[in-house]
Amino acid sequence: MALFMPFQIVASGIALPGCPETCGDIHIISYPFGIGPNCSLPGFELICNMSNGSPTPFLLINNIPVLEIVSYLWSEQPNVLVNNNITSICMSNATSSLNLSGTPYWINNRNKFVVVGCDIIASITFGNETNKHPGSCRTMGCYNPDSITYPYDNNFCSGAGCCQISVPEEVNYYQISLQSQNYNSSKQYNSSQCGHAVVTQSYNYVNYDELYVYDTLYQQQQMPLYLDWSIGNEGCKMAQANKSSYACIDNHSECVESDNGPGYLCMCSDGYEGNPYLEGGCQDFSVAIPSV
Ligand SMILES: *[C@@H]1O[C@H](CO)[C@@H](O)[C@H](O)[C@H]1NC(C)=O
Ligand SMILES: *[C@@H]1O[C@H](CO)[C@@H](O)[C@H](O)[C@H]1NC(C)=O
Ligand SMILES: *[C@@H]1O[C@H](CO)[C@@H](O)[C@H](O)[C@H]1NC(C)=O
Ligand SMILES: *[C@@H]1O[C@H](CO)[C@@H](O)[C@H](O)[C@H]1NC(C)=O
Ligand SMILES: *[C@@H]1O[C@H](CO)[C@@H](O)[C@H](O)[C@H]1NC(C)=O
Ligand SMILES: *[C@@H]1O[C@H](CO)[C@@H](O)[C@H](O)[C@H]1NC(C)=O
Ligand SMILES: *[C@@H]1O[C@H](CO)[C@@H](O)[C@H](O)[C@H]1NC(C)=O
Ligand SMILES: *[C@@H]1O[C@H](CO)[C@@H](O)[C@H](O)[C@H]1NC(C)=O
Ligand SMILES: *[C@@H]1O[C@H](CO)[C@@H](O)[C@H](O)[C@H]1NC(C)=O
Ligand SMILES: *[C@@H]1O[C@H](CO)[C@@H](O)[C@H](O)[C@H]1NC(C)=O
Repeated sequence: MALFMPFQIVASGIALPGCPETCGDIHIISYPFGIGPNCSLPGFELICNMSNGSPTPFLLINNIPVLEIVSYLWSEQPNVLVNNNITSICMSNATSSLNLSGTPYWINNRNKFVVVGCDIIASITFGNETNKHPGSCRTMGCYNPDSITYPYDNNFCSGAGCCQISVPEEVNYYQISLQSQNYNSSKQYNSSQCGHAVVTQSYNYVNYDELYVYDTLYQQQQMPLYLDWSIGNEGCKMAQANKSSYACIDNHSECVESDNGPGYLCMCSDGYEGNPYLEGGCQDFSVAIPSV
């Protein structure tokens, strides 16, 4: 999993008091995220599902498995890394969608829509409540599962057996359509013979391994997706006017405008670190680390 962790989180005691801070592999669940309705802000509730042996956290919204939470401002827009479903085209054309409208989540534009397979016409419409961004790409030639030739050069995913589309800014839904004449209902398919598409963390965001994209797409059911999040759907000025709902409650916290979609975020003031969403959450850094 180290491949997917461009950020380091160093903190503790950042859940709401009395609330669990871990679920399976996620060791730091910091407020506004939390397990259960009384431990989280609306939209940030996680379910820690114990039913298949190892505890797995899911966003209550859309039932999406969570891989990693970066829940307060470190140096960038905070993210949550989730597992996204892969859409496959085997015996017939396929469609799928994700709609996060009305939730705190926005699709980070370092993700990409990646399509692998034979002669697939892939369409994806990204959008938000007011704007739509339709796009399409086509994989040319036929990716032959019997003689895999990965494109190792700079032309990775430029059309031959693979094509991709960038994610626009400020979008919170997408609709996918995959069409092909190469796949038909008179043939038996296994997963490596089908075409696959997913909106996923861009391969060039971290040192993304091209082989990894192919292998994962062909073998697994899900791939990691970065979601940005923010509080509410108005900016700092409006949010600060209502003290009962304003989320930056620590005395040493500040409001920052979200840079993906409407809403705001909180951060600890200069010299303080911790969780700005909790009373007493921002700690004086110079006191916390004794000087020699
Ligand atoms: C949440 O808090 C409310 C009010 O304090 C309480 O009535 C309710 O039982 C709590 N729910 C859970 C799941 O703990
Ligand atoms: C936990 O996962 C199981 C199996 O995937 C599912 O049937 C169940 O509904 C889940 N429980 C909750 C509370 O989401
Ligand atoms: C993935 O599929 C499951 C089951 O259909 C659905 O509950 C979940 O919301 C989907 N996740 C995403 C990110 O679309
Ligand atoms: C997304 O969900 C919202 C709220 O549930 C709904 O109003 C909207 O029509 C949906 N958008 C799409 C493109 O399905
Ligand atoms: C799939 O889409 C292609 C291209 O639009 C079309 O020619 C073909 O008939 C479709 N196949 C099915 C089974 O609908
Ligand atoms: C459909 O599958 C059959 C059986 O594998 C194959 O002979 C035929 O060429 C396929 N048709 C197309 C249009 O690919
Ligand atoms: C899937 O099909 C490919 C190509 O025919 C074959 O090499 C591979 O062994 C098959 N995989 C499984 C799991 O059946
Ligand atoms: C302030 O926030 C509270 C809690 O979310 C809400 O009930 C109330 O309507 C808000 N007041 C105004 C003036 O928007
Ligand atoms: C929707 O996206 C456009 C950019 O495409 C942006 O200007 C607009 O503010 C967004 N609307 C909402 C409600 O986020
Ligand atoms: C925040 O400031 C208020 C007013 O100065 C003070 O009463 C309160 O104790 C402070 N809270 C914390 C957690 O320091």
